[in-house]
Amino acid sequence: MSYALTIEPLGQTIEIEEGQTILDAALRAGIYLPHACCHGLCATCKVQVTDGEVEHGEASSFALMDFERDEGKCLACCATPQGDLVIEAEIDEDPDAENLPVQDYDGTVARIETLTPTIKGVWIKLDAPIRFQAGQYINLELPGGIGSRAFSIASPPSEAGEVELNIRIVPGGQGTGYVHETMRAGERVRITGP
Ligand code: FES
Repeated sequence: MSYALTIEPLGQTIEIEEGQTILDAALRAGIYLPHACCHGLCATCKVQVTDGEVEHGEASSFALMDFERDEGKCLACCATPQGDLVIEAEIDEDPDAENLPVQDYDGTVARIETLTPTIKGVWIKLDAPIRFQAGQYINLELPGGIGSRAFSIASPPSEAGEVELNIRIVPGGQGTGYVHETMRAGERVRITGP
């Protein structure tokens, strides 16, 4: 089941699936909403719902306080629709931004190199080319219930068939720990981006 999501001040209406977050729907439609942690913790993605109801999902009570919920605010990275929605977002018009739609890309880990004692270089050969702008990042899906982690793309946009990620190990981090200790060349992976 899908609903209509209208994003002001752009006045653009896009489709959003039941259970899909506002942020995911916007990014996949090529509309860039500010965001950072994507887990309901930082409040970068806070938007005003001006019409309709949302389910707040995993929004933390620090990032989205009770009075803000009462005022109709929500965190776009966690909020899912309960019907048609209209939101008001702070969208910076960046004249250089191409607003490329976010998509899923499957690929194979082509090689992994130790760049420094704490950083691995991971090259992922994609089944289909990716379009991105310098400075953008992707989400890498990791197996075993780890979930996805965001990493900046280290390779230039001209290399559309293969992305390079430079991944620094985070002490105790499940995602970067997996990349450093378990991931092998030949492994099939999925990335979402840009
Ligand atoms: S992006 Fe951090 S709370 Fe949504």
